Amino acid sequence: MGLLVILAQAVWFILPALAPSSGAVLVGGGSPIDFGKKTKDGSRVLGGGKTWRGLAGGTLTGMVLGTIQNYLALNVFNEPNWAFSTSWTSTFLILFLLAFGSMMGDMLGSFCKRRCGKKKGDKFPVMDQYDLIIGAFIFVIPLQWAWFNAHYVEGQHIFGLVFILILIPLLHRITNIIGFKMGKKEVPW
Ligand code: CTP
Ligand code: MG
Repeated sequence: MGLLVILAQAVWFILPALAPSSGAVLVGGGSPIDFGKKTKDGSRVLGGGKTWRGLAGGTLTGMVLGTIQNYLALNVFNEPNWAFSTSWTSTFLILFLLAFGSMMGDMLGSFCKRRCGKKKGDKFPVMDQYDLIIGAFIFVIPLQWAWFNAHYVEGQHIFGLVFILILIPLLHRITNIIGFKMGKKEVPW
C-alpha cells in the first residue's frame, strides 16, 4: 500500500471520532450530564456545555457516519481495505468505541477545564484540540488493539497516526469556525 493511501485511510478511519462533537453541537441541550453539580473547588463537575442529548446525539452521529462509510467501502466501491471491518458486528463495536470514546474525551477535557477554573467556552490549548482523539484512543487501543495496530501503528501506518495528529488542530479550527458562523458555537474555537 502506498504512503498516500495510508495517510488518506488514517483520516478516513478517524472521522467517526471527529464527527461526534459537531453532532453534539447540533443536537445538544437539555439536562446537563453533571446535573448542575459542583465539586469541592466550587466549579461545575463538567459544566453546562455537556448534556445527555449531546452525548447520545454525538455518539450516534459518529456511528451513523461510520456505518455509511463502511457501507460505501463494502457495497458501493467494493474496497474492503476501506472498511472498518468486513464483519458488521466488529464494525459497530469499533464505531461505538471511536464515537463514544470521543465524547468521553470531550467530557474529560471539560472536567480538566473546570478543575483549572476555566469557564465554558474558555480556551484550553492542546486539550481543546486533542480531547476527542485521546478519548477515542483510550477506548479503541485496549479493546480493539488488532484493529488499531493494523491501521495506525504497524509498518508505515505509524505515519498515518503522525499525520492525523498534525491535521487535527487544523480540522478542529475549521469546524469550529463553521459552527461559530452558523451561530451554533459561542466562540470560534
Ligand atoms: N454539547 C452538548 N453535549 C455534549 C457535548 C457538547 O450538548 N456532551 C453541545 C453544547 O451545546 C456545547 C456545544 O455542544 O456548548 C459545544 O461543545 P464544546 O465546545 O465541547 O463545549 P463548550 O461549550 O465549549 O464547553 P467546555 O468549556 O466545557 O468545552
Ligand atoms: Mg469547548
